[in-house]
Amino acid sequence: MSVAVRLRDVHKRYGETRALDGLSFEIPSGVLLGFLGPNGAGKTTTFRTILGLARPDRGVIEVLGMRVGPETSRIVKRVGAIVEEPGLYGFLSGRDNLVVASDTLGFGHERIDELLAFVQLTDDAGRKVAGYSKGMRQRLALAAALLGDPEVLFLDEPLDGLDPAGQAVLRDQLRRLVDEHDKTIVMSTHDLGDVEHLADRVVVISRGRLVTEGSLSELTAGGDRVRVVVDDPDRARRLLAADGFTVDGEADEVWVAGTDGAGVIRTLANAGVYPSAVIPERRTLEEVFLGVTGEQP
Ligand SMILES: Nc1ncnc2c1ncn2[C@@H]1O[C@H](COP(=O)(O)OP(=O)(O)O)[C@@H](O)[C@H]1O
Ligand SMILES: [Mg+2]
Repeated sequence: MSVAVRLRDVHKRYGETRALDGLSFEIPSGVLLGFLGPNGAGKTTTFRTILGLARPDRGVIEVLGMRVGPETSRIVKRVGAIVEEPGLYGFLSGRDNLVVASDTLGFGHERIDELLAFVQLTDDAGRKVAGYSKGMRQRLALAAALLGDPEVLFLDEPLDGLDPAGQAVLRDQLRRLVDEHDKTIVMSTHDLGDVEHLADRVVVISRGRLVTEGSLSELTAGGDRVRVVVDDPDRARRLLAADGFTVDGEADEVWVAGTDGAGVIRTLANAGVYPSAVIPERRTLEEVFLGVTGEQP
């Protein structure tokens, strides 16, 4: 597993505000990472320091094995980003915005039509961007971020403010960039639903520090109850309680606390009751988030 992005003990202060306070984490290549944290947690500051737009007071940041700072100019050629308001010209067409962006960045024009098609703007490419919807602008900004065929994309709240249809189109494109084009995407959002539906891994920060990280299934595992599916739930509850288990639930729901399920199966099978499933409890991402940050997303 190669590492796309690595932060080690990164600090960044604005006056008295510790925007980043010893932030450390790693992002493996080839994943779509949901970068989460309450408002003011330091997400945008993290992006800005990774991209060389803000200078950390302390700490080391590496992107694709290169050090931010000494090697920032090499890094920016291999990453793309949408951070803050995408700098689009309203008086130019969508296509001409990409032409200008390519010229500024020193890229050729040969991928522009392909990128317009990818973000589904071919039919509107000749229209002035001033008349674009927010979703169309966001897709154009994504096309601009992809001009240099970057390996890593940093997207700060890319779905924010889009209508549901616009979000669906963009989500689908982000997923395809990872699955079909081998990109690594780091996407901040405060919509946990986006992360639950889209992300492979999650990093949660709060007050400028890492509070938890892992794959979605790692993070949402970890309730300490199992649900037992049986034909005769009343009997199963009685048998388990008699054997000392902490049993809960009513009607068809049989919950057993403080067990991984193996003992549950043994107790029931000894009495000739065979559960059709023993399912570890999952927590929602919202519960995980509240648990580690103490705040709403
Ligand atoms: N340029 C700046 N000047 C002063 N304070 C800043 C600046 N940028 C960010 N901050 C502060 O740093 C903290 C983290 O902000 P930010 O990175 O924007 O968080 P997030 O993107 O997670 O909402 C906040 O308290 C914010 O007010
Ligand atoms: Mg922000």
